[in-house]
Amino acid sequence: MEYRLQKFLAEAGVASRRKAEELILSGQVKVNGKTVTELGTKVNPERDKVYFKDELIKIKKKKIYLLLNKPAGYISAAKDQFDNPSVLHLVENIKERLFPVGRLDKDTTGALLLTNDGDFSYHLTHPKHEVSKTYLAEVVGRPTDEEMRLFMKGVYIDGKKTYPAKIRIVKEIKKNSIVEIVIHEGRNRQVKKMCEEIGHKVVSLQRVAIGNLTIDGLKEGSWRHLTPKEVERLMR
Ligand code: URA
Repeated sequence: MEYRLQKFLAEAGVASRRKAEELILSGQVKVNGKTVTELGTKVNPERDKVYFKDELIKIKKKKIYLLLNKPAGYISAAKDQFDNPSVLHLVENIKERLFPVGRLDKDTTGALLLTNDGDFSYHLTHPKHEVSKTYLAEVVGRPTDEEMRLFMKGVYIDGKKTYPAKIRIVKEIKKNSIVEIVIHEGRNRQVKKMCEEIGHKVVSLQRVAIGNLTIDGLKEGSWRHLTPKEVERLMR
């Protein structure tokens, strides 16, 4: 994103925009080592280095944290080769460049965090930090106690054992079951693979919570900002 130089200085908190114009005109501002006295010179914070009185000036990036209730049919990546719609299309009125924290499969619905804060994303996707993710899955058949015990202890998927997890049956629908699953990792198609390992294919999958952040009250396809407290709690 490009800024007019005076706006850049104002956004960075150097001075008001009016005052910043005076600073530029009086030759106190440099861009990439050269004094610039022309108002309206365009600068790109990712490319240009702006100095005031020879001190490097930076704009603090506004950090954005959104919780989206992802509908089915949307991909978590910005793009794929099939031109599927991206979850980023659902938050078009936010101008910051966001990315999803972890991934949900195209057919999975529910809680997905979007942010522009790399540290936040790293923290949440690291299994060491143990942020729990809660899913409701409809699976074929009725998992037995023994199968669920195996699931909780950890099963091998892609040659690596999963961390301890939780599973319980919450509802029975004819021959299928709705199970609630809690895991702390975010491996590729993890829930589906874990369920398959114990012999119960997933028919549909919804992530209902990340930590204690639930999608309650959030319609499919809509999103909301996290409160500072919610961000802090997830980072703890
Ligand atoms: N596990 C899966 O298998 N799919 C998802 O989308 C999320 C977790």
